[in-house]
Amino acid sequence: MTYEVFATQQEAVKNLAAEVAELIRSRAAEGKGVVLGLATGASPLGFYAELIRLHKEEGLSFKNVTTFNLDEYYGLPREHVESYWYFMHTNLFNHIDIPAENINLPSGTVAQEDIEAHCQAYEDKIKACGGLDLQILGIGRTGHIGFNEPGSDDTTRTRQVHLDDLTKTDAAPAFGGFENVPSYAITMGVATIMDAKKLRLMAWGEKKASIVNKAINGPVTADVAASYLQKHPDAKYFLDAAAASEL
Ligand code: F6R
Repeated sequence: MTYEVFATQQEAVKNLAAEVAELIRSRAAEGKGVVLGLATGASPLGFYAELIRLHKEEGLSFKNVTTFNLDEYYGLPREHVESYWYFMHTNLFNHIDIPAENINLPSGTVAQEDIEAHCQAYEDKIKACGGLDLQILGIGRTGHIGFNEPGSDDTTRTRQVHLDDLTKTDAAPAFGGFENVPSYAITMGVATIMDAKKLRLMAWGEKKASIVNKAINGPVTADVAASYLQKHPDAKYFLDAAAASEL
């Protein structure tokens, strides 16, 4: 596991987007596809804006790209403005040429009794596509990656989870109050994420400094799911100075 501290978030996301663009282009040149794991939230917004710019201004095509998102709030239909389906379409998919059938997110509306089969099918589809080539991550203040809250160990796979109160507190403004934040989500597990060939985690700002330090320098533990990245052969943190200030 490595990390790099950039002068600005803009510089960091340009660097990461260039790496992803190179992966997409080199695979396209071989007539092959790329499987990307994607995240939502504030952290990857600049990265998605840069991918859109590369598409519009530099001809980067996403026709050979298949995506799997990390997670989705349970109980939210796709049209809900806070659903991750809506987020991804608004902030990335609607602005690039990715084929709609290549886009995968867990469902927020699958019936409770069908969740297990839905999660297994998500895992199976990732495998059938050849596995995740590169997984984009953010980190929550609980140390979660995806919605793998404290207690999620490295055997966890895609499943329904209960959201930590701190995670709900951080999401409360977007939902107009804590009580409106869904309590459950469907998320890839730590093992699902660790199976990706490359992991790229972005963290910005001093609010993330303490948890970034714990994840990078602390023990590898289910209490901080991101700490498992220490055991991954190709994981990298992209940080700004504020997020790196406690390292
Ligand atoms: C989002 C996700 C979460 C976020 C994390 C950080 O799909 O899985 O792990 O990456 O909560 O969120 P932001 O970037 O909003 O600080």
